[in-house]
Formats: sequence, C-alpha cells, structure tokens
Amino acid sequence: MADTFGSAAALLALRSPENPVVCVRPHLIEARARKVVTAFPGDVLYAVKCNDTPIVLEALWRGGVRHFDTASIGEVRLVRRLLPQARCHFMHPVKSAEAIAEAYHRHGVRRFVFDHEDELAKIVAATDRARDLELFLRLAVPGQGSLLSLTGKFGVERDEAVRLLRRARGMAAELGLTFHVGSQCVDPEAFERAIAIAADVAHAVGGVEHLDVGGGFPALYKGDEPEFEAFVTSIVGAVVAHGLTCRLQCEPGRLLVADGASVLTRVELRRGRSLYLNDGVYGNLAELKWIGPQFPIRLVRPSGPVDGEIEDFDLYGPTCDSIDSMPGPHRIVREVSEGDWLEVGMMGAYSNALRTGFNGFTSEAVAIVRDRGWYLDTRRDEPTALAA
Ligand SMILES: Cc1ncc(COP(=O)(O)O)c(C=O)c1O
Repeated sequence: MADTFGSAAALLALRSPENPVVCVRPHLIEARARKVVTAFPGDVLYAVKCNDTPIVLEALWRGGVRHFDTASIGEVRLVRRLLPQARCHFMHPVKSAEAIAEAYHRHGVRRFVFDHEDELAKIVAATDRARDLELFLRLAVPGQGSLLSLTGKFGVERDEAVRLLRRARGMAAELGLTFHVGSQCVDPEAFERAIAIAADVAHAVGGVEHLDVGGGFPALYKGDEPEFEAFVTSIVGAVVAHGLTCRLQCEPGRLLVADGASVLTRVELRRGRSLYLNDGVYGNLAELKWIGPQFPIRLVRPSGPVDGEIEDFDLYGPTCDSIDSMPGPHRIVREVSEGDWLEVGMMGAYSNALRTGFNGFTSEAVAIVRDRGWYLDTRRDEPTALAA
C-alpha cells in the first residue's frame, strides 16, 4: 500500500525523494466516478488503459463503477483479481485467440468488439461457438473536435458495418455498435455526428441491442472545456432524435481519473527559460508533449507551495533523446531553480500508464495525497465542489 500524506509539500518534507512521485488522490477519483455514473443514462465502463494503478481502480469501484473496458488479457486479469465482482468487457477490436478464450472461459467476459470478419470468426471459434456472446461492431467516425484523433486504426464504414452486423446476427445473443470520437474531445456535437452514423447502420440491420458511445470526454485541463453533462445532453438528444431504443454505455478514461493525480518532478538544471526535469515524455509526462502545455504546474517546497510572478518555460525530460522535450509555454513561478520540485496537476490519465524505463530513468513511486487538489481551484473562478 502506498504511503499517505496530507499534501505534496508534506511528502517532500518527510521523504526527501530523489525520483518523480505520482500523487494519487483517491477521494477525488471516487467523487468524480460518482458524478459520472449518476449523470450517464447507461453503463459506465472505465477504460483501464488510462491508469491501471490498483489504488485508482479501487477508488473507481467505491465511486460506483462496476464495468471495465479491458483491452488486453493482462487488464482483464488485473481487474478480476482486484475487483472480483467487476464486469470486464473486451473492447479492443483485435485480440489474440488465447486472450479471447481465457476471457470467455475463465473470466466471464461476454462482450467483445470486432471490425473484421476474421476477428468475428476468431471470437466464435475461441469461445467454442458460444450462444451467449454480445458482439459489438466498431464503426469509423470522424475525429474532428478531439485533441488526439483515433481515426484510421480501427472501425469500418457504413456499408461494411451493415454487412458485418448481418453476418454476426446469427452468432450473437446480442449485438451492439461502438465508436470512439477521439480523446480529449471538446465538441459535444462530435457525439451527435457519430450517433447519426450509428443510427443509420442500426436501422439498416433492423436494430441493435446496445450502443456504446466510447470515450473521449474531456478532462477540464484549462477549465473552459464543456462539462460531461453537456455531452450527456447531446448524446441523449441524438439517440432520441434518431429513434434508437437500445441500451447505452460509454467508456471514459481521462474524464474519470485526470483530476485524481498529480506528478512531482525535480528540476535538475535551469538554463534560462528551459527547465531540465527528472521526469519526461518517456516517464509520467508524455501528455505534456502530446496534448500540449495546458497542465497546471506549481512550484512546491517542503515548507509549502511558492507563489510569485509567473514566466513561460520550456520543459525537457531526463533522457538523451530530443523527443523528450515538452515545449511551452508552461506557466511557472519565475524564481524556480535547480533542486526545486514542480507539481504537475491533472496527471491522473495516461501518465504512469505510459511510463517506460528508457535510458535507465524510471520511477514507480506512488503516494496517496489527501488534499483537495490545488489544481482544481486554479482552473475556474469558482472552485469545483469535490469531496475534501
Ligand atoms: C476503445 C477505447 N475506449 C475508450 C478509450 C478511453 O478514451 P478516453 O481516455 O479519451 O476517454 C480509448 C482510448 O484510447 C479507447 O481506445
């Protein structure tokens, strides 16, 4: 079990760490989960890939999440071991036959995604022609409105979708459609456009039992992103407008966990407006590069956080690779210098999950921090009302 501290400053004072530390706030994850599960009119599947730390998964469970979007047999095993009552759904369109067989026969998985007839045949064979399969077809949908597009790799267009669903009908107890509009999607209308495509396919095959609207709901990094409730309104409106009567589910990742953790990283060198850190793109901070400088960052010392005039900085990770850079402007207190610790907020999603040991730099340190997440208050004029 990770050690618990009252704040990041207390952690620095008591532990004097040398390596980066992921500071998880399970109470915030639990509160966020409760909000999302309450707001969504269907099953909420947490996308485990986003952060598979046991503390995180257990907090989601306490917040009411009962379904998990597992994309590998490793994730299925992890969730089943930690949370034996949880329902796992294999939402990756390409799986090994061994993974499908183990998921079905050992872990009770019934819901599988496919987007090719060979994958459909593989699922049917690996489950010994099971009669209780719930097969979801992945649709291709446009990626506009999202910061990280997921188009191109998975999903089929309308006519192929209709053909595959007709084929799957006789092999499945229930059929579903699924899509992903892209990660950190800030446009609720992206879901309306995708649901219009799904409805067209569903009607062409005489209806389906399930619609999975995927993930992509934004974390509030800057504070001006639409809230989850706006997406629910768009989704429900589109479902009704298109005459769909099927059961709904969604697969959020970052929405559920982004504000549930921060990362403490030390400045190893300051060169003008460039800071060289002990964490970076190959560690916990990949998202600072891929979605850009929108993360709240504060200077924190063992005595407490340091306020002051703000300047724009570029950040660099510890490895020798020049990809390991996180161009700014990152807004940080001007007086920052070597040996100081930065706390990067909103780092619960795709942080430690993407960490590598490249170049000999790795740190698995995780701590529980019991404060209310300073970064939540910095994003909006009104502090977000979450559990203390
Ligand atoms: C199939 C699927 N579902 C859900 C997610 C979670 O997406 P997000 O974290 O943007 O909500 C992903 C992310 O890649 C995904 O591929």
